[in-house]
Amino acid sequence: MTSGQERGSDLRRRILEQVAEYYRLAHAERAFVPGESRVHYAARVYDEEELVRGVDAILDFWLTVGPRTDAFEQGLARYLGLRETLAVNSGSSANLLTMSALRSPRLERRLEPGDEVITAAMGFPTTTAPIVQNKLVPVFIDCELGTYNLDPEQLCRALSDRTRAIFLAHMLGNPVDIESVMSFAREHDLYVIEDTCQALGSTYDGQLLGTFGDMATLSFYPSHHLTTGEGGAVATNDARLGQIVASLRDWGRDCRCTHTSPAAGACGRRFDWEIPGLNEPYDHRYLYVEIGYNMKMTDVQAAIGLAQLQKLPAFVEARKRNFRQLYEGLRPYKEFLILPKWSERADPAWFALPLTVTQGAPFSRRDLITFLENRNIETRLLLAGNLIRQPGYREIEHRTVGELPNADRVLRSSFFVGVYPGLDEARKDYMLQAFEDFFGSL
Ligand SMILES: Cc1ncc(COP(=O)(O)O)c(C=O)c1O
Repeated sequence: MTSGQERGSDLRRRILEQVAEYYRLAHAERAFVPGESRVHYAARVYDEEELVRGVDAILDFWLTVGPRTDAFEQGLARYLGLRETLAVNSGSSANLLTMSALRSPRLERRLEPGDEVITAAMGFPTTTAPIVQNKLVPVFIDCELGTYNLDPEQLCRALSDRTRAIFLAHMLGNPVDIESVMSFAREHDLYVIEDTCQALGSTYDGQLLGTFGDMATLSFYPSHHLTTGEGGAVATNDARLGQIVASLRDWGRDCRCTHTSPAAGACGRRFDWEIPGLNEPYDHRYLYVEIGYNMKMTDVQAAIGLAQLQKLPAFVEARKRNFRQLYEGLRPYKEFLILPKWSERADPAWFALPLTVTQGAPFSRRDLITFLENRNIETRLLLAGNLIRQPGYREIEHRTVGELPNADRVLRSSFFVGVYPGLDEARKDYMLQAFEDFFGSL
């Protein structure tokens, strides 16, 4: 090492020590003041490790995919026990990539325009958007009240001779009855994509969600189970689909060279590819086999993700614990609120705690959420409610199974409160006290 390099690494060590010190001064948690502090439904949960790793990455100034992105992808794949995890710039991008992959000309059983994809009417818009964007037709089935997941009983009624795939989301971390879905899909030769954006760490029969279908998607937006700010991933055990998703994510190129590949490419014959129809031999790096995008994650995001990944098991446990405590505290109000339901075979790492105001209750959803918000307790609606009632979706080509009464109920009467790992005992007590005060005043 030259003396300049030594001074550089010493300076870097001191910078990172100071970043940790800065975290303790500027970011460390402030005491909860009932009524004054906001009780968020979700937020980033982090410590000095995320800040230090993020600044460390900045000091390298590696602004695109780099070594930390590789490590993050490998860490996620290990956690899920899957062959491949591809980091991307959001959960919505992950969803778009999965649907686009099913339309790839390189896929043997590719989906054709007008083919149908079964999905739930109640959910997040960007589970459905990529179906539409890929010239496919969403077939909406209703959700169950309480689980808020698609009702597997309705799959049969959704089926037509154009049905090719099921795009399901495990809502709020609560596992879909995935066994029924998978056996239906096997019977009818359908692809299954699991939107696991709200459900990282949840299990069904002890198996992690995201590992049942052909592909799964994750979101790392700050309200989710781990965060990289913006960010997401596609996970799969299928090498062909992995290759197609990687290509679509990386401009549509064929080559999977990375920052570590030698000049002659990972294949060793980068400049010698014989491609019919192109000037031969051709540089493989510039061979485009998909109509792709650029949806890559950056190394600074991945650096933060690596620190978060270490905390994931503790986050998952905290979400389960917070849910249990709040659920127990809300049991006395069963007359007024439909409490969440889940299968005995499920162990949900809850994203949030969903509630539906019962029919005939002497108050409206608006009354209750306004009361909670006035007490500084954040509430959120259950995403899009019934998606086809949303202005952007009213005119899309689609089919529905029946009238979707439960999705309409959710649109009108459901909301959720948080269970994220940042909720301490004081905040949970405060939340339950607010519910008690509301119902006490009826
Ligand atoms: C079920 C579901 N799918 C997809 C997404 C999109 O993820 P992102 O916000 O990272 O684009 C979300 C975001 O909350 C979600 O809840």
